[in-house]
Amino acid sequence: MNGIHGDDGAVRAARRDDAVRAAVEQGLLGPATPIVGLLDVTGIREAAAELQAAFDAVVAPGTPVLHAFAVKATPLVPVLRLLHAEGIGAEVASPGELALARAAGVPPNRTVLDSPAKTPAELREALALGIAVNADNPQELDRIDGLMRSATSRSPLGIRVNPQVGGGSIEATSTATATSKFGVALRDEGAREWVVRAYADRPWLTRLHAHTGSQGVPLSLMAQGVAETYALAEEINGRLGRRQIDTLDIGGGLPVNFGSDETTPTYAQYARLLSEAVPGLFGGRYGLVTEFGRSLLAKHGTVVARVEYAKSAGGRPVAVTHAGVQVAARTVYAPGAWPLRIAAYDGKGRPKEGPAVVQDVAGPACFSGDLLAEGRALPLLEQGDYAAALDTGAYYFAHHYAYNSLARPGIYGFAPDGAGGVAFATVREPQSLDEIVAESGGAHAGSLTTLRAPDHR
Ligand SMILES: Cc1ncc(COP(=O)(O)O)c(C=O)c1O
Repeated sequence: MNGIHGDDGAVRAARRDDAVRAAVEQGLLGPATPIVGLLDVTGIREAAAELQAAFDAVVAPGTPVLHAFAVKATPLVPVLRLLHAEGIGAEVASPGELALARAAGVPPNRTVLDSPAKTPAELREALALGIAVNADNPQELDRIDGLMRSATSRSPLGIRVNPQVGGGSIEATSTATATSKFGVALRDEGAREWVVRAYADRPWLTRLHAHTGSQGVPLSLMAQGVAETYALAEEINGRLGRRQIDTLDIGGGLPVNFGSDETTPTYAQYARLLSEAVPGLFGGRYGLVTEFGRSLLAKHGTVVARVEYAKSAGGRPVAVTHAGVQVAARTVYAPGAWPLRIAAYDGKGRPKEGPAVVQDVAGPACFSGDLLAEGRALPLLEQGDYAAALDTGAYYFAHHYAYNSLARPGIYGFAPDGAGGVAFATVREPQSLDEIVAESGGAHAGSLTTLRAPDHR
């Protein structure tokens, strides 16, 4: 059976502990650099291999399959390059994400554009490059019509539908609710007919896309979304009397276990579930695109922050660290939906021992809700120790939130150095104060004081 289980989780945790200690020893982390993001390169490679093996095990031989990493999950060029080297393409949802994928060397034929608000210029560029595009709505399809009339394109083109199968436990990341902003709402009156007509009128529409999962969505609901998409493709091809839709893009959305080091659910479990729930999907009649993000990266990232001060308030110990809302915005603003595990390390970066003490782990930002964890039982964090927020490789430290003009931390990949130690590679330099000033209008310091209403005297 494919998949990382308890033991592999323990191996990954041991790699993480080694990396934290090495980061302190090698000076990546310390009083002058009190926060860092770490990425486990071995773990990322393993996840990419797991994903490919899981689907290879269920698809008919010869089926074209593109696993396109959802760049939004970890928008870092070296990560995209690593994944590309491991056989994974890119799903992009903005001009910035497309630029990152291109900078990483992901070729157009391994890139998919999916955003809900594509401008005419974005569409033109994507079609000129030959990137796959999924139209989100009828107005966007009109724009693509215009472009297809004026030029030829190698882009595989499709429509995104929302099967409206319902949401999961986290409203903000549920994409298949009745009123979701994404795609063509398939159960709305007249929508299904409109989709069928759209394909009938456009022989160049050869793909169908849905992304119904996300954190908090049960696998059975994800499978239902895929099943409805498959059924629609069958209906369209049947009614048109030709196999016009040749590829199904089933999106991403595999949830991540934030509660322990175990990887669950696994890609293998999901692929098997799909093969049971949607017989025919993997039979070879359709090529396949997937767009997993969180499940590829989350468990391979750790943000580690120094405890600047350890204090007590109202009888509760509070560790004031350098990791808060700027690197964990979701957790800080919605702690119930996005709790993170915290690991305690001593000042030398060694796992901290000692009786569990209920304490708060706070961030550096100037509002009282800036807490990585509230009332958490951990070995007592003291000044000079380190607190690590685990499973933060996707949608966390790569998604900086500039509150208090806190600098983006440096991000480093790590792997065994072959001699019993840990080697680091820079993924992103820490942001400098000059860069913060520059992105905050530093070049226009006098622009407002010199702006005056015309003098009407
Ligand atoms: C169209 C699309 N594909 C893929 C993803 C990636 O989802 P996840 O990171 O949950 O796998 C998203 C996430 O928002 C998305 O909107």
